[in-house]
Amino acid sequence: MASVTTREDQSPEGTRVCRADELADGKSCKFRVPDGDRYVDCFVVRYQGTLHAYVNECRHVSMSLDWVENQFFTEEADYLLCPTHGAWYTPDTGECVAGPPCGKLLHRVPLVERDGTIFALAPEWS
Ligand code: FES
Repeated sequence: MASVTTREDQSPEGTRVCRADELADGKSCKFRVPDGDRYVDCFVVRYQGTLHAYVNECRHVSMSLDWVENQFFTEEADYLLCPTHGAWYTPDTGECVAGPPCGKLLHRVPLVERDGTIFALAPEWS
């Protein structure tokens, strides 16, 4: 599932991402959230039953992480893979465990669920 956030997806509660039951384990969905006067590209994955969302930007160099449109997982769906220089991130913590940015964390995007719909809040830049 791929998604591009539109202005209609924005509300005071956050940015509508998808329905919670739309995203199966090992699947991902892209979206954008407003951050000041710009939009930030983000993605959400379901990993071992739980949703996790991050800014779609490697912590090594400012490159997007999907190696094919909306594909973030390794073949076994156990890591998120940066295609540029091969960094591996754990899906549940966003920590890089192999590759140039080893030890750094992807910027998390907080999620909230309301009535079965997932909304994203502003990214955590720290
Ligand atoms: S840009 Fe991701 S590992 Fe270099």
